[in-house]
Amino acid sequence: MAVIGIFDSGSGGLSVLKEIRKVLPSGHFIYYADNAHCPYGDKSPEYIQDRARAITRLLLDKGAEAIVVACNTATGAAIATLRAEFDVPFVGMEPAVKPAALGTRTGVIGVLATAGTLKASKYLKTKGLYQDNVRIEEHVGEGFVQLVERLELDGPETERVVRASLQPLLDAGADTIVLGCTHYPFLRPVIERIAGPDIRVIDPAPAVAKQVLKVLSERGLLSPATPSSFAGLTGDPSKARDGDRQGGKSPTLELLSSGDPTTLRRLAAMIG
Ligand code: DGL
Repeated sequence: MAVIGIFDSGSGGLSVLKEIRKVLPSGHFIYYADNAHCPYGDKSPEYIQDRARAITRLLLDKGAEAIVVACNTATGAAIATLRAEFDVPFVGMEPAVKPAALGTRTGVIGVLATAGTLKASKYLKTKGLYQDNVRIEEHVGEGFVQLVERLELDGPETERVVRASLQPLLDAGADTIVLGCTHYPFLRPVIERIAGPDIRVIDPAPAVAKQVLKVLSERGLLSPATPSSFAGLTGDPSKARDGDRQGGKSPTLELLSSGDPTTLRRLAAMIG
């Protein structure tokens, strides 16, 4: 089974890893959280491309044979650059505008994402395919990434912050909310509580997991041959190359962070 590298600006991409593990239960994963440079949402595309390049090199050095860009913002800013510069398969995030547009009853869908994602040509292109048939309302999830990175996943303050960005979409008549940032699924219980039972919330991660499976299969990377397995965590990217390795166990997850790995560790334990 191939070694799969996964990265995000922080811990959000664990929501994608969770879905990938459902379809690849014996996979070997190296997850890199760029906590020292989080959030990406308000950074320039060039900055994110530089980070994505550096992280890709690190993941390849550690043996990754396929890379999942488990971050909508980095997908929008950098996946084309990565594909042009590295000879390894990349799978990125896709905002779930299509299933939302096909399923809406009110004809209004709401997209929650970062400012970077909402400006990226990848998203604008997808939106262009559907906006003649449905109204697409957008809102940046202001403060959502910070809530997740602080592990404030519920409570009155979390509810207040989430409501401030979600309510305008609901007021506009949206009956479907697209989670366009991989951090947001960690706030899904709060989002669903505020939205109520009639609102459909869509997370693209299960579809991305299926795409990972498809790409690995096409590249012949699903063979049962097992590499030396490993498990470890380091907060220091210079040490990340030498992350602890332990032989023998399968499946494996190696967690790496360029900053404080506390949340990463806790959320990784939460997703099981
Ligand atoms: N989790 C990321 C995304 O999917 C990035 C959020 C951020 O760093 O602003 O967009």
